[in-house]
Amino acid sequence: MQGCFACGNERIRPQAARDFGALSARSVRRVDVRRPFHPQRLYDFLHATGDAGRLLRSKGYFMGLKIFLGDRLVDEADAKISVFDHGLLYGDGVFEGIRVYSGRVFLHDEHLSRLYESARAIRLEIPLDQPRLKKAVEETVAANNIGDGYIRLVVTRGAGGLGLDIRKTSHPQIIVIADKISLYPPETYTNGMNLVTASTIRNHPGALSPRIKSLNYLNNILARIEGTDAGMVEALMLNHKGEVAECTGDNIFLIKQGVIKTPPPDAGILEGITRNAVIKLAREAGQPVLETALTRHDFYTADECFLTGTAAEVVPVVSLDGRPIGTGKPGPLTKTLIGRFHELTRK
Ligand SMILES: Cc1ncc(COP(=O)(O)O)c(C=O)c1O
Repeated sequence: MQGCFACGNERIRPQAARDFGALSARSVRRVDVRRPFHPQRLYDFLHATGDAGRLLRSKGYFMGLKIFLGDRLVDEADAKISVFDHGLLYGDGVFEGIRVYSGRVFLHDEHLSRLYESARAIRLEIPLDQPRLKKAVEETVAANNIGDGYIRLVVTRGAGGLGLDIRKTSHPQIIVIADKISLYPPETYTNGMNLVTASTIRNHPGALSPRIKSLNYLNNILARIEGTDAGMVEALMLNHKGEVAECTGDNIFLIKQGVIKTPPPDAGILEGITRNAVIKLAREAGQPVLETALTRHDFYTADECFLTGTAAEVVPVVSLDGRPIGTGKPGPLTKTLIGRFHELTRK
């Protein structure tokens, strides 16, 4: 099919480029991106943002994505699952968010291993084995021509009755979406992020282990609402013992007198893939890393602080609960780690 007449992108309809004038003027005001707009840039931006992207989709400007559903790639418009799916009715399922850099799925095996472990923990049998699922993810990335992007890999329990009995469910659904992503604005990485502690504590590990990356994210969403209300893009969560656990969608680290510290998995956290990669990078560079119980006091009095996450990558944190951390600016060790992490993504 013929793509955009201006940039040739096959997923933008020619008509969209003609209508860019009005749309880009609105977007420029909203997000302060520079004119003139190259259609590809507008496409990237709109595609990564919710409302404008949806507007364009609803006008039929975008050709849909190819989605892997069940055991094959289908058009986005045909990617439908049952309203009786327990993933929808109960958040009964597991997922992964994975980055793609230069068309390469980053830390693919690590993400897949965690997905299968989460599934085992909730007694969900993923209908494809790990090598086949890995291939499905790669096929989805290729089918959507993703260079730098983000994958959402979801496995639901499948359709069942309206009750909780998993014996009544059948056919767990595998969904792979490969798309663009932009999480935090660029200035968050240069100026650092401010954090506030949420009053919502992280799920008690004895109730629902935070080590399971389940489709039920209400715990995190409730804490994130508190962060949003306080004007922040992330929020810190404590565990049931009052210790620091993690943020709503990221792991947290501090640096004190050259030692990097982060809560251990038994503090009730998701054992982040980015967290583990950063720990490895630091140790390889000879920097000591301690996985140890930490309190907010440790963060208030730290020299540096940063977050890690697949979507966020490595983000400096410059204040917590109105207290500047260290100098109140991104710290030197954090900046070095960010550099090393970017090198790793390009390897
Ligand atoms: C609650 C929570 N903690 C930490 C992370 C970071 O984990 P990862 O580095 O594997 O993305 C995430 C990311 O999804 C998360 O949702």
